[in-house]
Amino acid sequence: MKLSKSIEELEYSQALESDKEAMAWLETNGRKFGQFIGGEFLFQKNADQIKVTNPADSSILAAIEIADDKTVDLAVTAAAQSQKSWYKAGGHARAKVLYALARLIQKHARVISVLETLDNGKPIRESRDSDIPLAIRHFYYHAGWAQLQESELAGQEPVGVVAQIIPWNFPFLMLAWKIAPAIAMGNSIVLKPAESTPLTAMFFAQLCTEAGVPKGVVNIVNGAGNTGATLSAHPNVNKVAFTGSTAVGRAIRKSTAGQSKKLTLELGGKSAFVVFDDADLDSVVEGIVDAIWYNQGEVCCAGSRLLIQASVEEKLIGKIKKRMESLRFGTPLDKSIDVGSLVSDKQFEQVSHLVKSGLKSGGNLFQCEQPDSSKNYYPPSIITDVDSSHPLVQEEIFGPVLVIMSFRTQPEAIQLANNTRYGLSASVWSENINRAMHVAPALIAGVVWINCHNKFDAACGFGGVKESGFGREGGKEGLYEYLKPVQLKYKATNGASGNKASSTSNVQHSTSSEIDRTLKFYIGGKQVRPDGGNSIPALNFDGSISAWVGQGNRKDIRNAVEAARKANGWASKTAHLRAQVLYFFAENLTVRKDEFIKRLMETCGVKKPEATGEFNATVSRIFSYAAWADKFDGAAHDAPYRGITLALPEPIGIIGLVAPDHQPLLAAISLIAPAIAMGNRVVYIPGDQYQNIILELVSVMETSDIPGGVINIVTGDKNELSTHLAGHGEVESMWCWGDSELNKNIESISVENLKRTWCHENNDRDWLDMNAGEGTEFLRKATHVKNIWTPYGD
Ligand code: NAI
Ligand code: MG
Repeated sequence: MKLSKSIEELEYSQALESDKEAMAWLETNGRKFGQFIGGEFLFQKNADQIKVTNPADSSILAAIEIADDKTVDLAVTAAAQSQKSWYKAGGHARAKVLYALARLIQKHARVISVLETLDNGKPIRESRDSDIPLAIRHFYYHAGWAQLQESELAGQEPVGVVAQIIPWNFPFLMLAWKIAPAIAMGNSIVLKPAESTPLTAMFFAQLCTEAGVPKGVVNIVNGAGNTGATLSAHPNVNKVAFTGSTAVGRAIRKSTAGQSKKLTLELGGKSAFVVFDDADLDSVVEGIVDAIWYNQGEVCCAGSRLLIQASVEEKLIGKIKKRMESLRFGTPLDKSIDVGSLVSDKQFEQVSHLVKSGLKSGGNLFQCEQPDSSKNYYPPSIITDVDSSHPLVQEEIFGPVLVIMSFRTQPEAIQLANNTRYGLSASVWSENINRAMHVAPALIAGVVWINCHNKFDAACGFGGVKESGFGREGGKEGLYEYLKPVQLKYKATNGASGNKASSTSNVQHSTSSEIDRTLKFYIGGKQVRPDGGNSIPALNFDGSISAWVGQGNRKDIRNAVEAARKANGWASKTAHLRAQVLYFFAENLTVRKDEFIKRLMETCGVKKPEATGEFNATVSRIFSYAAWADKFDGAAHDAPYRGITLALPEPIGIIGLVAPDHQPLLAAISLIAPAIAMGNRVVYIPGDQYQNIILELVSVMETSDIPGGVINIVTGDKNELSTHLAGHGEVESMWCWGDSELNKNIESISVENLKRTWCHENNDRDWLDMNAGEGTEFLRKATHVKNIWTPYGD
């Protein structure tokens, strides 16, 4: 009796991790940090400073200097100067450096974990057992890719100087996640840590020298939003990789528009955690702890929307509440706590405010403890009695707050899960493999976990869709974000592009025997007249009229997108079927060979061999993508857990294609074929010249079993039409060949729904060149990779 009573009354005592070593390191550095540029630590005279605090007790840990524009420029210059020799050193040399970094981090893992916890407020258990080990794994894993780069990534080269801007929720892990793949592939980087958590990055800078990272390959600049803005917009930066809020992601998309930069954005989320009635509810409860109370819920892919099948709702909520009672809060350095402090006073206020104001729209809040602003402690919270339009269900809270809703049927679960503007991650909970494997691909997200949540590994791609951004980090798919195809014979030669005829109506036209021909748009499988009723002449190379084509407007674009939306069944057709349709298209085109060669000669003013070459290459290109349709087939990633992670390329949705002027037949097919082979639907806008050529293809399309709405074609003013297309909320991606003004315009407008853009100078490639005109580069742009984690065993 006595013993059991004592056991009941037992309280945990604190098991504090020592901060002695971390504090000594801060002291050694005078508790002040400047910038790490060109392998040196740089301090400026009279630089503005930011105080670095421990959010658990508001103590000041150190100060950082803010890098001004000149300092950012120094860092970018140092990166640019080091990059070529770093790449030239070869994969093996880079592998050794990454390996050394991994070893050194391992050696200092304890002090780095403590520093991270002091600076961020996360439980030491998490920084020690999760963040830092995973960061180490990123360096090991990518050391391997550096070693294999020459053989496995042939034909690709580094993009050059990469700006990397990271947030405060996983400071060291995000640093590793960004730096490892970038430098492995031979880029040099400038990284800006978040202003509230810069300490472990400064520790890392010191390790770089020891690991033999050449001067200038890794540069770290400190500062807040202004420093980040200057860095991302710097003209000598070739790529920006950003993780953080959707608002800042948008600002970066805007400020870099038209700069020909590669961009990846890993933004916010409101991820669904979907529980079916056949799930193991006790595992579900632990899954919820991992999904929303891990890292105080300050996780971009936190499972913050719980959807429970109605028949088990009450039971599960009861279990969750019981589990909440046993979650422990305490000082973050206590090894036995579950929940620590939010990162800053600002974040504490933000979470408190969002919850308070959200509850005005209804909902019931359940918490086991009170928030404590002196420690920035916000307790684990659940909110019930809300519907899908409730602000707390739609907005990212970025704190330990879970909203709960229920559903009845599987289709309703999928629909509710997808009812968000975000698309970062989701998890499915069911013991029924049929159900789990059916629901996982139906969830619109970059990462889906089955019977687990918040699992990560360097071997698996991570990243989102919709307003969660674009691009992947981790896995082989992540490497391409830091590479570009080796520049071969890309520039288009004269040939078919060699004249200046344009379709503006004020040109003096010579007469042609075919002047009466009027070619309509192709929308939803039908030939359609322009909404405005106007036609414009499509000119031959010599200024004579080849045919009249419709002059499209916003309404025509809307109709074309609508038709494409309705044709979404194309994505779920088998790859075999899509291949068959493409082969049939090629076959039907072949029958019309003589006619197309003649048309190309007349229109583009090329000689017969050249026109024949373009025609034959067009047929061959359709064959290539018919072949690829069922061969671009993803991977099974081998992460260190009992299970496999399926990396599946998925179609993006509706892609807007804005074509170049030259080689009008081949260019059209080079864009349309890979996009539709992967299951996308397209809206095609031809180049300003030779707009008639693509419309001549319509009759071939009509007889080739291509479902209506998969290919839609609107002619007219390329600038105007592509602006409408880029501004359309249902278009998920834009591929654009234009002048720099047009590209800038497309990239800026695409910010609205955060479209993936792929913009080029009009004549950047010769479509006859196999390396420039076709291949996996196009297929990668036509897909995004969804990683589905499937654990197995008990
Ligand atoms: P933030 O997006 O402002 O900060 C992320 C990084 O971007 C920091 O390094 C910051 O200095 C930098 N930055 C800020 N303005 C910039 C600009 N104009 N150009 C370039 N870089 C810039 O996030 P913040 O303000 O710290 O947190 C606000 C909210 O954002 C959070 O409550 C959360 O909802 C969300 N967030 C999401 C993250 C994610 O991983 N998805 C991470 C951090 C925040
Ligand atoms: Mg801090």
